[in-house]
Amino acid sequence: MCKGLCVYPGSFDPVTLGHVDLIERAAKLFPNLVVAVLNNPDKHNMFTVEQRMNMLSRACAHLTNVTIDSFGGLLVDYMRSANAEIVLRGLRAVTDFENEFQMAQVNRQIAPGIETLFMMTSPDYAYISSSAVRQIAMFGGDISTLVPPCIIEEIHRVFK
Ligand code: COA
Repeated sequence: MCKGLCVYPGSFDPVTLGHVDLIERAAKLFPNLVVAVLNNPDKHNMFTVEQRMNMLSRACAHLTNVTIDSFGGLLVDYMRSANAEIVLRGLRAVTDFENEFQMAQVNRQIAPGIETLFMMTSPDYAYISSSAVRQIAMFGGDISTLVPPCIIEEIHRVFK
C-alpha cells in the first residue's frame, strides 16, 4: 500500500461507473483517498457542487477509506491545504493523454513535491463520459449501464 494522502480530482458532472471503477481500485492502494469535486463558477455544470458531492457520497458509500470533498482555485493549493502528495487521474484512451500530460507537467512545475499518478480505466468503461450521460438523460434514454444504480433517479429528476 502507498503512503500519503491521494486526491482524485474532477468535475464528476455526474459521477459515472468509470469513475467508481477507478475509485474502488485506488481505494485498495491508498489508506485514504479523497475524491475532490471542482467548484468552478466559470464552467457551466449540469449539477451543483452539492449535488455532485451527494451523488459521489452515495456511489462510494461502500468504501470506508474514501471521503468526498470540493475545492476551488488551483488543484495544487488544495493539495497543500489537505496535506496531500498524490494526484490520481484516469486515462481512458490515448486521446486523454495529451491533456493529462500537460496538466501533470504544469502542476509539477508549480508544485514540485506533488506527484500525478495515472491509472488506466477498465476497458468496460473506457467509452463512458459524463457528457454522454448528460446527453442520453436529457432525451430520457437508458443510463443504467453508465452510472451507479443509486443515482439514476436523481439524474432523471434534474432533466424532467
Ligand atoms: N471514467 C469515465 N469517465 C471519465 C474518467 C473515467 N475513469 N475519467 C475522466 N472521465 C471523463 C469525465 O466524465 C469527463 O467527461 P466530459 O468531459 O464528457 O464531462 C472528462 O473525462 C473529464 O473530466 P474530469 O476528469 O472531471 O476532468 P476535468 O477536466 O473536468 O477536471 C481537474 C480536471 C479538476 C483535475 C482540473 O481541471 C483542475 O485541476 N482544475 C483546477 C485548476 C488548476 O489547478 N489548473 C492548473 C492545472 S492545468
